[in-house]
Amino acid sequence: MINIKGVLFVAGAILGSISTCAAQDATKGEQVFKQCMTCHRIGPDAKNMVGPVLTGVIGRQSGTTPGFAYSPINKAAGEAGLVWTEDLIFEYLPDPNAFLKKFLTDKGKADQATGSTKMAFKLANEQQRKDVIAYLKTFSDKK
Ligand code: HEC
Repeated sequence: MINIKGVLFVAGAILGSISTCAAQDATKGEQVFKQCMTCHRIGPDAKNMVGPVLTGVIGRQSGTTPGFAYSPINKAAGEAGLVWTEDLIFEYLPDPNAFLKKFLTDKGKADQATGSTKMAFKLANEQQRKDVIAYLKTFSDKK
C-alpha cells in the first residue's frame, strides 16, 4: 500500500531542496559579505575583529571561534547545543538577538536568555541571506 501523504512529503522535500540549491549563489554572496566585513573576516588567514572569524562557521558550535570574546548569550546558546547549519544561520541573520533568545528558551534555558548579542547587524533580505550562506559554505568543510 502506498501512503500518499508520505509520497507527497518526500516529493515536497526533494523539490524544496532542489529550489534551495538553485537559488543560492556564492558569487553574489561574496558581494553581500562586504556588509559583514565591517566586523568579520573569512578565509585561511582571517583574524578576529569586531566579530569572530567566520571560516568554518558552518558545522561549528556557536561561540567557539578561538580567541574571540563572545557575549554570554552567544556562548550559552552553543553550550545548550547550537551548532551552526545553513538553515540556522538563515534563521539567525534577520534578528540574531531574538534567535538566540528563542533557541535558549526552547532548550529550557530561559534564565540564560538575557542580555544582548554583540552581533548588532540584521540581514532581512531572503535572497541575500541565501547567497551569503552559499559564500560562507565555500569556507566550511561541512556542507
Ligand atoms: C557591526 C558588526 C557586525 C556585522 C556587520 C556583522 N556581524 Fe556577525 N557578529 C558580530 C559580532 C560582534 C558577533 C559575536 C556576537 C556575540 O558575541 O554575541 C557576531 C557573530 C556572528 C555569528 C555567530 C558566530 C559564532 O561563532 O557563533 C555569525 C554566524 C555571524 N556573525 C554572521 C554574520 C554575517 C553572515 C554577517 C553579514 C551578513 C554579519 N555577521 C555581520 C558582528 C557583526
